Amino acid sequence: MSAMITVSENLIFSLTSKNFSYVFRVSAEGLIEHLYYGGPLQNPEHVSIHHQRTQRETSSVFEGHQHLNLSGMPQEFPSFGTSDYRFPALHGRNADGNTIFSLQYKKHKIVKEKPRLKKLPSARGGDSETLVVTLEDTLHKLEVELFYTIYADYGVLVRSAKFKNKSDVEIQLQHAFSSALDLPPAEYEVLHLHGTWAREFNEERIAMPKGRFVIESARGTSSAAHNPFIAVMQKGATEDYGRVYGTTLIYSGNFALSLETGEFEDVRLLAGINPFSFHWRLKPGKKFCTPEALHVYADKGLRSMSHLWHDFIREKISPPKFKNKARPTYLNTWEAAYFDVDETKVLHLANKAVEVGVDMLVLDDGWFEGRRDDTSSLGDWRADKARFPSGIPSLAARVKAKGLKFGIWFEPEMVNPDSQLFKDHPEWVIQVPGRKPSLGRNQLTLDLSRSEVVDYLYGQIDDILSCGDVDYVKWDMNRNMTEVGSGGLSRNRQREVSHRYMLGLYNLLERLTTTYPDVLFENCASGGNRFDLGMLSYMPQGWISDMCDPIGRLDIINGASYLYPLDVTAAYIGPSPNHQNGRKTSIQTRFLAGVFCAARGISLNETDIDAYKDDLVHFMDLAKSTAQDMVGGRFDRLIKNQNEVCWQYTSRDEQTVYIAYFHILSAPNLPFRRARLMGLDPKSDYILVDDGISYRGDALMQNGLPLPYVTTSHVSDEVRYMDKGDFSSHLFTFKKTAS
Ligand code: GLA
Repeated sequence: MSAMITVSENLIFSLTSKNFSYVFRVSAEGLIEHLYYGGPLQNPEHVSIHHQRTQRETSSVFEGHQHLNLSGMPQEFPSFGTSDYRFPALHGRNADGNTIFSLQYKKHKIVKEKPRLKKLPSARGGDSETLVVTLEDTLHKLEVELFYTIYADYGVLVRSAKFKNKSDVEIQLQHAFSSALDLPPAEYEVLHLHGTWAREFNEERIAMPKGRFVIESARGTSSAAHNPFIAVMQKGATEDYGRVYGTTLIYSGNFALSLETGEFEDVRLLAGINPFSFHWRLKPGKKFCTPEALHVYADKGLRSMSHLWHDFIREKISPPKFKNKARPTYLNTWEAAYFDVDETKVLHLANKAVEVGVDMLVLDDGWFEGRRDDTSSLGDWRADKARFPSGIPSLAARVKAKGLKFGIWFEPEMVNPDSQLFKDHPEWVIQVPGRKPSLGRNQLTLDLSRSEVVDYLYGQIDDILSCGDVDYVKWDMNRNMTEVGSGGLSRNRQREVSHRYMLGLYNLLERLTTTYPDVLFENCASGGNRFDLGMLSYMPQGWISDMCDPIGRLDIINGASYLYPLDVTAAYIGPSPNHQNGRKTSIQTRFLAGVFCAARGISLNETDIDAYKDDLVHFMDLAKSTAQDMVGGRFDRLIKNQNEVCWQYTSRDEQTVYIAYFHILSAPNLPFRRARLMGLDPKSDYILVDDGISYRGDALMQNGLPLPYVTTSHVSDEVRYMDKGDFSSHLFTFKKTAS
């Protein structure tokens, strides 16, 4: 691999990867000054620094530079108090009790490959180089190492920071961001994904406001309210036009992505742990590592940004064992029986699963001691003897004897007050002295900042998984944290609890996934309340939302796809009328909404399974025959408006191209619509499997594919029609022929 990181004699650092250059330098004042982030440059050292050194009246501690205004100077890791008035990456209390830190360049090194974080999930290396720049506040002996990793083949910049207290007194960290990015003045827009339970990943696009704009979480999970993702874009950017800076974090707890338009209209982006709910006491000699922040730069709009993310997440974040592996189809007991499960029912459903041709039976909630509804038993992860007298290992073996795989649901991080675990260990919950802890879904959060709780959970889950017949675990987490405190930590460490919880959780997941590398873990938190790259580092797929209505789910999948490859998502055919919003839809639309998700399945009761048996056999057959294509391929958003969604999915070998089209509300006399396909070989023919008609790649991309028509009457034999009425859908499958 050719050197991608260079350092000039006068300390200009340039990082150049496939599609970007990132440049900064050590300024005459010893600060690290950001110079450039954008498309690749031939001679990165030659970027102009004129504009940001323009003199403005100000105060400055730097001798000979009395006009240097740090509020106008782009920096790599700004602190507060020496003339930069913007939100800082580092803020805290030093030994003197004030908050003024000033970081100066000390040294740097370039390491081949990428160091992994010890206690936090982190991106994998491989054909990468890492620049480590050490800064120091010489007065308070706080050292900050900034890590920058770039890859030969991936357009992602990975950043993190490590704080080291080299003094002999305690330093308190309040802002310990992972990265800071100061972008030059321009007309920007911002894209972010907000929501709530069953309505996750709503796309919002706003003009970059003056002042500060933050998306964040203080809920203990990354949350459905704001997914940890933001894109700063050139005004007017579209799917295939415009410069886009995307940022996310490998973290599942309280995060902040803060944007600030400064007085000179430059934009500061800070990414990391939310300072609102964080305060870390760094004892002499101790270190603190931040989670990793990931940045991409795309010069051809949102589509190119998404492809950069998708390739990287698949290659460097998702557990490698499941990379490009077809996922099993599944039948989940939840919407079939809710809590009312027992051995007989499960085996009966397993027979149904066999009849409709799914690969795996998943036993959802309701299988453990005393669990009849959501008021009790979380924490007691032993099979309920009355309903599962032969135990889970025997049930798993019997399900597997039918030729199925077996999966099971856990919600390990939770406890009901009505449980044996709570009776034995009331001190093991997140709580503060003197206040009644708020219940969420009748449950409390276990205190994973305590290692004994992590050990207990490991033991309980290990007891079930060690039978060797569990192929899949659905890992749920169904409430946000409140009254955050831990009896295991001293008074002055209470604001460390949320982050220590995450360290405990990651430790538990690391241990379990190392012991059970073949078990397919699926991340769920009331749907998408903790859908992020932290969890996806351990779990190859996630339950993106509890919204199973296909029309509701279209927006969710579309929004999530800005960042996440659909390889990490799952979808079911759920009941109709839908249990969340009452909408009635065809079984085809219910299947097609999730057709490009890697994991497809069914969550229906027996009556519905019987009633729709032929359709289910057909769709599960389709799911199985396309399962290999639905991992590692390319996803494109072709059309998304109030009434239509059209997506393209191109298999990894580029031999098969799928187009899913959804028409939401029907109306008479509609226009004829086309979708222009993306990324085909212009010189190849693509045969539509349905009718054998051949289309040329260039025509499909330039002239477009005529979309099926929604109508109340037949207008012409030449036209392809959709089902009449609302919520109709159509799937095209094209096979490429030799060019
Ligand atoms: C959450 C999940 C559901 C189901 C229930 C079980 O709501 O999102 O899919 O597993 O918990 O209690």
